[in-house]
Amino acid sequence: MIETKTVAPARGLGGEITVPGDKSISHRSIMLGSLAQGTTVVRGFLHGEDNHATLNAFRSMGVSIEELPEGILKIHGKGLHGLEEPGDVLDCGNSGTTIRLMTGLLAGQKFFSVLTGDKYLRRRPMKRVLTPLVPMGARIWGRGGGEYAPLAIQGTSLAATSYNSPIASAQVKSAVLLAGLYAEGQTTVREPHLSRDHSERMLTFFGADVQPFDGGVTLTGLPSLEGREVFVPADVSSAAFFMVAALITPGSELLIKNVGINPTRSGIIDILTAMGGQLELQNLREVSGEPVADVLVRSSDLKGIEIGGALVPRAIDEFPVISVAAAFAEGVTTIRDARELRVKETDRIAAMVSELGALGAQVEARDDGMVIHGQEKLSGGKVQSHGDHRIAMSMAIAALRADSEMTIADTGCTATSFPDFWELLQKVRCEKG
Ligand code: S3P
Repeated sequence: MIETKTVAPARGLGGEITVPGDKSISHRSIMLGSLAQGTTVVRGFLHGEDNHATLNAFRSMGVSIEELPEGILKIHGKGLHGLEEPGDVLDCGNSGTTIRLMTGLLAGQKFFSVLTGDKYLRRRPMKRVLTPLVPMGARIWGRGGGEYAPLAIQGTSLAATSYNSPIASAQVKSAVLLAGLYAEGQTTVREPHLSRDHSERMLTFFGADVQPFDGGVTLTGLPSLEGREVFVPADVSSAAFFMVAALITPGSELLIKNVGINPTRSGIIDILTAMGGQLELQNLREVSGEPVADVLVRSSDLKGIEIGGALVPRAIDEFPVISVAAAFAEGVTTIRDARELRVKETDRIAAMVSELGALGAQVEARDDGMVIHGQEKLSGGKVQSHGDHRIAMSMAIAALRADSEMTIADTGCTATSFPDFWELLQKVRCEKG
């Protein structure tokens, strides 16, 4: 059954919330915990569908992962060469991170494996990871000449590489680095702008030799990884929905606790601040190699800005909700250099233009972005998620400032990254004094 949610306009939001753990860091904690010697304990793991796809894949390869009270995971690492051939196809569900990172990791194993996913994932481009892996010696086949999953991987011995990626993509970079773990010598990846660096940070934390430099990163292969205690901070990409919610809903003041503010992810804070948003970072600290803060957000009068260049990969998952903020800002917001949005869980440029447009917003699509003319109000009405969790949640935030109720179709997808989103949205409405 396809779930539908109805969201009413809000008068203000308040209180103190903690959003779930970071999705990217949660994936990597399972991967590196499985490849390490000894046990890894993960606190704050995101129990969403995407991360469970990664967890199940490693269980299928013989890794014992215990689920302890309070959502804590205990991973019994098998070492770099301890994974076993899975007895069945590995289902990555909706998760691009699972399929792309696993492709790199599986390329260097001593066994055969097959990766697939849901209908959305099977439409997303995979050659971007095959292109750097094949020269390392990887043997990978896929539909459409290797562009689409299912992907079949015959693990083999790999050679180190030096790859200049044409796109700023952490999934591409991480796939090459994970393959590089299995190659003797140094593997280097360069990218046009720095994408999220969680793989580099966590590899370093687990004991690998990883050297970032201006424009890229070098990893030394065949390290011995040691199990660690990983604290996963709250996901800034999930916090982003509540940041925009509090900014655009008059009379709001909201404290979002323990948010990961890694500079490769905190573009949303810079963008909303440049739009005139009042966001205050409090209690800054570092946890398991990642910077963390509490974020206090107060409703603000936003203004349109231009967004492009190196800022784009630092906020790549936040453009649906940034377009909502822009729809209520004074003046014009222009988003450029964001062509990657067209190959996310759905085409996020087309989806936001269509759904915000249905509510009366003035939004134009560009090949590599959007132009949004802000206005005071949007109408309510019927919209749809396009099967994409971030589109569903962005529309729920837009509904808070609409002039009547909004019904969002196909909202089950929010379980991929933010299972308790709807309860938390209800809570912040009630906690307004
Ligand atoms: C992710 C990287 C990003 C992001 C995705 C998660 C990761 O994708 O959009 O949600 O965990 O590495 P790209 O690397 O393809 O930009």
